[in-house]
Parts: sequence; structure tokens; C-alpha cells
Amino acid sequence: MNATWNFAGKAVLVTGSTTGIGEACARAFAGGGARVMVSGRDAHRGRRVVEAIEARGGSAAFAAADLREPGACEALLGATLERLGGLDVLVNNAGILHSANAPDTSDAQWLETMAVNVNAVFYLSRAAVRHMRAAGGGAIVNIASEWGLNGEPNHVAYCASKGAVIQITRCMALDHAREGIRVNSVCPGEIHTHMLDDILSRRGGDLAAHLQALAAGVPMRRLASPAEVAHCVQFLASDLASYVTGVNLPVDGGNDATAGPYP
Ligand SMILES: NC(=O)c1ccc[n+]([C@@H]2O[C@H](COP(=O)([O-])OP(=O)(O)OC[C@H]3O[C@@H](n4cnc5c(N)ncnc54)[C@H](OP(=O)(O)O)[C@@H]3O)[C@@H](O)[C@H]2O)c1
Repeated sequence: MNATWNFAGKAVLVTGSTTGIGEACARAFAGGGARVMVSGRDAHRGRRVVEAIEARGGSAAFAAADLREPGACEALLGATLERLGGLDVLVNNAGILHSANAPDTSDAQWLETMAVNVNAVFYLSRAAVRHMRAAGGGAIVNIASEWGLNGEPNHVAYCASKGAVIQITRCMALDHAREGIRVNSVCPGEIHTHMLDDILSRRGGDLAAHLQALAAGVPMRRLASPAEVAHCVQFLASDLASYVTGVNLPVDGGNDATAGPYP
């Protein structure tokens, strides 16, 4: 078998690719030769990502989508099939986070977290599988979190939502293993993006000091770049991972290997 990291001729949809990990995934797949659909609510940022990809000779398009809206997932899948001419890889990356314990989590925060982090993953994956099984196969990579594998104080809605993503990954992997559709997730740890800066900024004080303290608690003693997550997503979506399905891969500098605070 001639397995390859190359995505030439492949059509890839990355949700939440206007910034952060999603943007890194979009750039990485385009760099590997794929036609990429960039998506999110912020059209200005989305078009900048497309321009950056095109400036390097890659191929990308942008479709605005607010995944909280009814029908948005199906519409985005439809736009991708129309504009890219197919769908070989779906990366469910869009995600939001509210920092609160249960008594302090409002109904609106709980429902919004579930809408973006869980419902959209399910609706998009369902629509993708309907297409992929007819097309003869494909790969889905979900962006879960190490906080879906383990609990984290003050983040009950987010942890619940990422736990659900991990179970969607396992169940769909089993259901579609014989149809040539592989379903995996990555579980990022501390990745330096807007989301991480937002979490730490809410604590008050010096952001740089918070980032340093966080890095000091990771076995590898550093945070990761979004590109380091994107490389693992690419691997799971590629032919190189042809016998890998139902896996939830920690990308966390060693955090998941420890039972408590790392000395
Ligand atoms: N950073 C970390 O340390 C870390 C750790 C574990 C897991 N993760 C997960 O990794 C994924 C990406 O996170 P990130 O750190 O890159 O965060 P980020 O920089 O905040 O990016 C989040 C992305 O999601 C999109 N998004 C948010 N709400 C949306 C909505 N209603 N409809 C459509 N798109 C929406 C945003 O696009 P628009 O603003 O344009 O809508 C943006 O592109 C998330 O699923 C997150 O939970 C991150």
C-alpha cells in the first residue's frame, strides 16, 4: 500500500477555521494539496485565512456559518459539497468555553455550549457520513479536549460537552468502520490560542505570568502551538492512519500520562 501524507485532490471542511487550531488545520491541509473550506462567523478573519492560503499557492474558499443556528450545519455541508465538489475529510473544530461551576452556569451558557460543541459535531458528522458512505469512504477528526478525558474545576458545561464528543467519536467509529469511514479525535492540552488567553485573562493579573505557570505544570514544560495539533489532525485524516479509528489522541505534552500535578 502506498500510504501518504499528501492530500492532493482531497476536499476538506474545517469548522471554526477563522483562527486558532482550526486556522492551523486549514493551512496544514491546504499545504498538503487539499481544497479547503474555511468556516466560522467572522467573514473578515475567514477571508484573511483564505488569502493567506492562496498566497502560498493553496486552494481554499470561505463559507460563513453560525453553528448555533438551526440548519446551519446542513447548509455548510451543502455549500462545501457544491464549492469543493465533494468531502473527503471533516474536521469538527469549532468550540466555545464558559468558565463556571454548575450553580453559576446559566441555562443559556449550558445550551450554547452544547449547541456549538456537541450538536454541531453530531449534525455535521451525520451529514458527512451520509455523503461519505455513498462516495466510498472518508475521515472525520473531532477536536475534543483533555478536559473531556478528565474533569477540570469550574468548567462543567465545557467538560461535559467534550466528554460527549469523545463518545460520539467512539460510537460513530464503530458504526461506520465497515464503510471506509474512520472517526477519531484529538484531545488537546494547553494550546496557545485566543481561547487559552481568554480563560487565563478571566483570572485577572498578569497574562504572561499565568501562561508561564501553566507551561511549568506540563511534563514537557511548555505550551503547544496550534500547528502541533494540526499535524496530529492531519495524521489521523491521512492514509498513514488507515487502520486507526475510534481513537481519542491526547496532544498534551504528557498531561494525560500523570495522575496528578506534575512535579
Ligand atoms: N486552546 C486550547 O488550549 C484547547 C484545548 C483543548 C481543546 N481545544 C478545542 O480546540 C478547538 C479550537 O479552539 P481554539 O483554542 O483554536 O479556540 P479559538 O481560537 O477561540 O477558535 C474557536 C473557533 O471556533 C469558531 N466558533 C466559535 N463559535 C462558533 C459558532 N457559533 N459558529 C461557528 N464557529 C464558531 C470561531 O470562529 P468565529 O469566531 O469566526 O465564529 C473560531 O474559529 C475548540 O473546539 C476547543 O474547545 C482548545
